[in-house]
Amino acid sequence: MTSTTDQLREEVRMRYAESARALVVGAGDCGCGSGSCCSDDSIASAASSERFGEVLYDAEQRNELPERAALASLGCGNPTAVAELREGEVVLDLGSGGGIDVILSAKRVGPSGTVFGLDMTDEMLALARQNAREAGVTNVHFLKGVIEQIPLPADSVDVVISNCVINLSTDKAAVLTEMQRVLKPGGRIGVSDVVAEDWLSPDERSERGSYVGCIAGALSKGEYEAALEAAGFEGVSVEFTHEVADGMHGAIVKAVKARVPDENSLPAAAATEAGCR
Ligand SMILES: C[S@@+](CC[C@H](N)C(=O)[O-])C[C@H]1O[C@@H](n2cnc3c(N)ncnc32)[C@H](O)[C@@H]1O
Repeated sequence: MTSTTDQLREEVRMRYAESARALVVGAGDCGCGSGSCCSDDSIASAASSERFGEVLYDAEQRNELPERAALASLGCGNPTAVAELREGEVVLDLGSGGGIDVILSAKRVGPSGTVFGLDMTDEMLALARQNAREAGVTNVHFLKGVIEQIPLPADSVDVVISNCVINLSTDKAAVLTEMQRVLKPGGRIGVSDVVAEDWLSPDERSERGSYVGCIAGALSKGEYEAALEAAGFEGVSVEFTHEVADGMHGAIVKAVKARVPDENSLPAAAATEAGCR
């Protein structure tokens, strides 16, 4: 990584460390006067609290969470609502923050499933562990690391979720390649993120909000689709859900890792095995 990308990542880490500290002392929206740290001073705070954070979860889901875990939501969508999680699955949340999506996923996959939350910010990891304890979920593991180098083995995860984090990455191609690596064949992604309309240049995105506020680093819809396809995903879709700034949207991103046929399960191999030569 270059020193500029190192510096940018450090700015992101500091911003979310500050956010976690504010949430721990009950200062709520990270002391920046908005509904979420994942928004920007340039976006009016009242409006931003309708576009980011806990309001994007329905009442039923919020009731499943301890109050502080719900308040810790800094996302721009609700990936657990789109990922169609099933009992027993292994889920990975990239940039798990205060743990809201990890806790909701843990309840969906049940005791036979496992949920990993990955985050680079110590203060967020501490908050998430505390929120998970309060929520009484035990099938969760919070890992320290960066989403560009996921500390899990290949083919080990059924579903990758993420909420308003990939836009913060300084190497989005690496994140998508890592998602492809850790997913099992046939595994899927259900991601919420900020995404720009294709006509917006990078400079125009920066005019609408800062990098640490989840705006300037957003990919456009076309860039996202192309990057997912380049990383080897199939069934790619990027759908806007709500506008967060002029020409920029909260979006749901879905894709699937191709199923590689297992040689032993091919009909010919099975027939040979059974002695039908
Ligand atoms: C906007 S918050 C979203 C948190 C959470 N997903 C939610 O919905 O509340 C971004 C989170 O991603 C983490 N993060 C940002 N960039 C990261 C990276 N490159 N690797 C790991 N974590 C990262 C931050 O520490 C922070 O906790």
